[in-house]
Amino acid sequence: MTGKKVRRVGILTAGGDCPGLNAVIRAVAKSLMLNHKVEVIGIEDGFEGLIEDRMRVLSYDDVSGILQRGGTILGTSNKADPFAQAILVDGKPVKKDVSAGTIAHVEKWRLDALVCIGGDGSMSISRKLVERGVPVVGVPKTIDNDLFGTDVTFGFDTAASIATDAIDRIHTTAQSHHRVMLVEIMGRTAGWLTISAGIAGGADVIILPEMEYDLNYICEKVAERSRYGKRFSIIAVSEGAKPRGGEVVVSRLVKDSHESIRLGGVSIKLGNDIEDLTGLETRATVLGHLQRGGPPTPNDRILATRFGVGAAALVATGQFNRMVALRGTDIVSVPITEVGGRTRTVPLDHPLLDVAEAVGTALGAKR
Ligand code: F6P
Repeated sequence: MTGKKVRRVGILTAGGDCPGLNAVIRAVAKSLMLNHKVEVIGIEDGFEGLIEDRMRVLSYDDVSGILQRGGTILGTSNKADPFAQAILVDGKPVKKDVSAGTIAHVEKWRLDALVCIGGDGSMSISRKLVERGVPVVGVPKTIDNDLFGTDVTFGFDTAASIATDAIDRIHTTAQSHHRVMLVEIMGRTAGWLTISAGIAGGADVIILPEMEYDLNYICEKVAERSRYGKRFSIIAVSEGAKPRGGEVVVSRLVKDSHESIRLGGVSIKLGNDIEDLTGLETRATVLGHLQRGGPPTPNDRILATRFGVGAAALVATGQFNRMVALRGTDIVSVPITEVGGRTRTVPLDHPLLDVAEAVGTALGAKR
């Protein structure tokens, strides 16, 4: 459809929510409406709304006053997938390819393009839609910051500041009670949130999923602090961290989900192990979805707005099948086909790890 004047564009937010989604919706819609006279159709609950034909025309008023609001005015779903949708057959969920019907809805609404705001899974679905001839422009979101092709995703800065604030608050109570306090931080298999909040909050130990942790090494670190008169320690631990030769802590196995492993609880297990080995009193706090809620930081509002305006420009100039991205300080775009299905984790020679160790913070194991 490249070359044709774009008149109507569908927009959806898919996967786990994160602060800044509304800022992107606002920027895409306002920019398309004001500068290109394009009509914007809001698709409800991510790919679920596309599959089920739930869409509505967005007015200028609909996208006004939402810049600072957390969540997404369109709703989202992290289960829907037009190429493997769970359908109940005899009461049991069976995965079916419903893409033909889904694409028929794109045609029914005369959508010249889709703007898909999502993470890794959503970009994989977008890639398949592109391969079936649907013009798509992607916008990278996730608090995990693990999306391939961009230096930073929006939502990350907000989550990192929430986790940092939590560490600050844990600090004062740890100090009062002379305890070892563990703060469990999201991020799945990527440690970007933990290394960032850990450094910003001055954690004494930072444990990442990318490096299997050594319990004895961690205990030695907190015992040493205790010996030198620092009678408390703060440990920032990623939800996806695992011990040397061991496994991640699973809070629940969810059948028929894209993410069948729901992580959670490593801080509780590790805290108990530390208490058993050192005799020091420990407590664990799992930050969970607090990290995804509430208003975006100014940095995320700015990044989301830049991404949204960039996505609108791609749509208006017919540059489809690309995802907007941040490279250094520039907004660029990369082919969606290069993005989906790959994640960007923290390399073990990353400068942030050096910085942490240089100020006396231990990592989960000797490097
Ligand atoms: O990918 C974002 C994220 O918040 C991860 O950090 C976390 O493991 C997961 O989503 C939680 O997903 P859910 O919202 O399904 O509990």
